[in-house]
Amino acid sequence: MASSKLLLHFVLLALIACGAVASDPSPLQDFCVADKDSPVRVNGLPCKNIKDVKVDDFFLAANLDKPMDTTLNKVTSNVTLINAMKLPGLNTLGISMARIDYAPRGQNPPHTHPCATEILTVIEGSLYVGFITSNPDNKFFDDVLAKAF
Ligand SMILES: *[C@@H]1O[C@H](CO)[C@@H](O)[C@H](O)[C@H]1NC(C)=O
Repeated sequence: MASSKLLLHFVLLALIACGAVASDPSPLQDFCVADKDSPVRVNGLPCKNIKDVKVDDFFLAANLDKPMDTTLNKVTSNVTLINAMKLPGLNTLGISMARIDYAPRGQNPPHTHPCATEILTVIEGSLYVGFITSNPDNKFFDDVLAKAF
């Protein structure tokens, strides 16, 4: 009796362990080129009809290598953003990229990136980056310095 209970426990444990082996679900589509003209608004942009997808949906000749004018606004910075609105092939991939030019003491006003990750690369100079957390005692994230080496 005791051995059959033990066997039952092993079987149950094996079944539970099998359930823990998981992977990301298969993507439902290869790509979802943004249909910027669609009146439908979902969480993001709806997919263009696959018959209307063109090579240009995946190509953008952006001038990310050129500094932008930082004298035209009060914060003296200039953001060149590449996202699904500018490069429709990025839609639903969770990828965007930006070049930010700062004049000395220039700023990028506080903003949020819901459900996104941000990676900064400083090419020249130093950049002070702050995180505001919901915990006021969390001073660890108050100031982070990104620097070009
Ligand atoms: C950024 O710079 C470009 C030209 O370098 C200019 O056309 C654009 O208006 C600037 N944007 C801002 C927000 O200052």
